[in-house]
Amino acid sequence: MRVGFVGWRGMVGSVLMQRMREENDFAVIDEPVFFTTSNVGGAAPDVGRTVPPLKDARNIDELKAMDAIVTCQGGDYTAEVYGKLREAGWNGYWIDAASSLRMEDNAIIVLDPVNRDVIDAGLANGVKDFIGGNCTNSIMLMGMGGLFRAGLVEWVSSMTYQAASGGGANHMRELLKGMGVVHAAVADELATPSSAILDIDRKVAATIREDVPTEFFGAPLAGGLIPWIDKQLDNGQSKEEWKGQAEVNKILGTDATIPVDGLCVRIGAMRCHSLALTVKLKRDLPLDEIESIIKSGNDWVKWVPNDREISVKELTPAAITGSLQVGVGRVRKLNMGGEYLSAFVIGDQLLWGAAEPLRRMLRILIE
Ligand code: HSE
Repeated sequence: MRVGFVGWRGMVGSVLMQRMREENDFAVIDEPVFFTTSNVGGAAPDVGRTVPPLKDARNIDELKAMDAIVTCQGGDYTAEVYGKLREAGWNGYWIDAASSLRMEDNAIIVLDPVNRDVIDAGLANGVKDFIGGNCTNSIMLMGMGGLFRAGLVEWVSSMTYQAASGGGANHMRELLKGMGVVHAAVADELATPSSAILDIDRKVAATIREDVPTEFFGAPLAGGLIPWIDKQLDNGQSKEEWKGQAEVNKILGTDATIPVDGLCVRIGAMRCHSLALTVKLKRDLPLDEIESIIKSGNDWVKWVPNDREISVKELTPAAITGSLQVGVGRVRKLNMGGEYLSAFVIGDQLLWGAAEPLRRMLRILIE
């Protein structure tokens, strides 16, 4: 199999390369070929074997020679190249991190620990486009997939706490710069234990309003939050909120739509997205049964008992970042009744939310 890689240098692409090296994926690809939009003829990344110099990612003939193309180059690239490639008669596998093709009828959203059955049925039916899901949805399903698989979910209200990395590398830098600006504004007072906290707070509030950089997020994130992610739709939802129901149902291949809705909020975490869920179950089940169903979802579920000490240690960005484990905790019955369950789900959005489903899809094709 000849596999072309596009957009391997950006943030998601770099995480993909790192994971592929860790899992020795390059050893099982007959011919990995690296493409570039800016450095044709340059050196390809070190993947532990000899690979040809970089090829032109806009050259349809070069792309056509691939059996599969994996792209993390972004939606603009997909819009520019995908149609031309198919029109030129290319019938290879297109594996894409961008959202552009996700909801197309001829595309499958890949998250194989959750929807391997949908992927296998698609492959058997000749589907060629396999697209990574929205990070928040992928993390929710990695955590709660067991309950969905058991057919127990009537609806989900999903309130999110989304990290800066969901916006991109520049957004992560802006968050950190903002944190530095806030700290610098009161560094002297902080070093003086006797200084008055309300004076510090006044200065911090003014700094957040006036000096924290907002070029990428459009509003100050350091020391605050932003209660809107992505475009505004006519129905009052944000695009990110709209994706919840649309993508979750597409990933699962449901016959009857499971309602999924809630508010998506950007917070000052680096790369861990979290979701506070209210799940309406189809029936009232004992908590120990619910626990074993959630744990049985997949090998990456990290069950965190609903205990204060363990939750604040294990169910946080500090504990989860950089790991493939998806934390599921704060699971308890809500006052609304025995069918109403709370859960807090947290995962690294650059791993299961972006790179990991793509490399696993490639493995499925190869093996
Ligand atoms: N749209 C997501 C976010 C990231 O902004 O956090 C990509 O799925």
